Amino acid sequence: MTKSKGQTQKSKALIVFGTRPEAIKMAPLIKKIEECKQIEPVVCITAQHREMLDTVLELFEISPDYDLNIMKHGQSITDITVRALKGMEDILTKEKPDIVLVHGDTSTTFVGALAAFYQKIKIGHVEAGLRSGNIYSPYPEEMNRILTTNLATIHFAPTEGNYNNLIKEGIEPEKIFITGNTVIDALLSVVDDDYTFENSILNKVDYKNKKVIVMTCHRRENWGRPMENIFMAVKEVVGENENVEIIFPVHLNPSIRKLAKYILGEQSNIHLIEPLEYEEFANLLNKAYLVLTDSGGIQEEAPALGKPILVMREETERPEAVKAGTVKVIGTEKENIKKETNVLLNDLHEYNVMANSINPYGDGTASEKIVNFLLSYLTHFKNV
Ligand code: UD1
Ligand code: UDP
Repeated sequence: MTKSKGQTQKSKALIVFGTRPEAIKMAPLIKKIEECKQIEPVVCITAQHREMLDTVLELFEISPDYDLNIMKHGQSITDITVRALKGMEDILTKEKPDIVLVHGDTSTTFVGALAAFYQKIKIGHVEAGLRSGNIYSPYPEEMNRILTTNLATIHFAPTEGNYNNLIKEGIEPEKIFITGNTVIDALLSVVDDDYTFENSILNKVDYKNKKVIVMTCHRRENWGRPMENIFMAVKEVVGENENVEIIFPVHLNPSIRKLAKYILGEQSNIHLIEPLEYEEFANLLNKAYLVLTDSGGIQEEAPALGKPILVMREETERPEAVKAGTVKVIGTEKENIKKETNVLLNDLHEYNVMANSINPYGDGTASEKIVNFLLSYLTHFKNV
């Protein structure tokens, strides 16, 4: 685009994502960029996820400019990496963006950054600086984050702890911006205390008189024995507690679905349901008694809603809500999951200690902060 006298040339930001959580967390940012006249957003999805991604795009009314449509059932990390990398090349060559924005820790994140680096394009990493300290947990996300940090030009860190992690790895302070997490922007835009579900199963549940546990489970490092332990523990907890109902929207990965159905199917107080559209899920969290999960994003959302959350993983890259007492990391051993869940179900004092509404992840203005920074950063490069 040519620059007329006294006018600043418009900058172009190419936003890349591929999975449900990236879409939820990038949606508020895309909306803010759309509002701003000086930056042109170009949206490219790898579609590493398909149905789970599409419902988020629909909810936030995002029409991607490019869709690599790479998802295959039972895909390996290598499949995702190779197909996304190949697909990104032509798009970057054609669009020549001023910056590529990637989010978080998926294989799409790493590949988006790598493809941009190969074209010597600047990279902004949203949700930068989270670390567990173990490259195999979460796997491959911890390494995806480390690799993306090394490729990125600027780093948008949700918290001060994330900032400190990046400083420890030698990133220059002037390249890191603490913004809060855009997931809070998304959450606040959909949660409503008077919400009525579209899903008929969710509408029938008695949230006042039952202790409703919302559960999710999908992490690669939990595939196999840890996931069997988790499902067995949950089955036994329901057997031992009459007043409990479990709602488990099962991830679309076929092997997770098979195991969930095998161990938890046919249980009257366990509802195995399809993945929920984001607005439905966020409002379900808001009505839940407690949350059992191995998800990353839910560890940020549930504390903001004051819900105790038990994390079925060996470690977390999100220690903020653990320090505040709302999140407990309980591992994947059956007996420990049962013990910790039973404590929260039967000891009101312990429950109340954990049911704190805390929000270490920002006030819902993370996207605005990122866009304000991008405006001055990109304008500077356009004018030199
Ligand atoms: C991916 C990310 C993980 C993130 C998670 C969010 C990687 C390596 N993993 O893991 O970091 O936490 O997304 O959910 O980047 N499937 C469908 N439809 C969908 C989505 C998935 O059928 O809409 C099935 C497909 O069979 C697919 C499988 O699930 O092959 C696994 O998807 P994949 O993206 O490879 O891994 P996730 O475990 O979802
Ligand atoms: N989520 C959703 N529907 C569901 C389950 C989860 O919209 O049925 C949302 C949830 O609120 C959170 C995100 O998906 O924002 C988390 O995605 P996931 O657990 O798949 O990935 P992770 O955060 O672990 O990378």
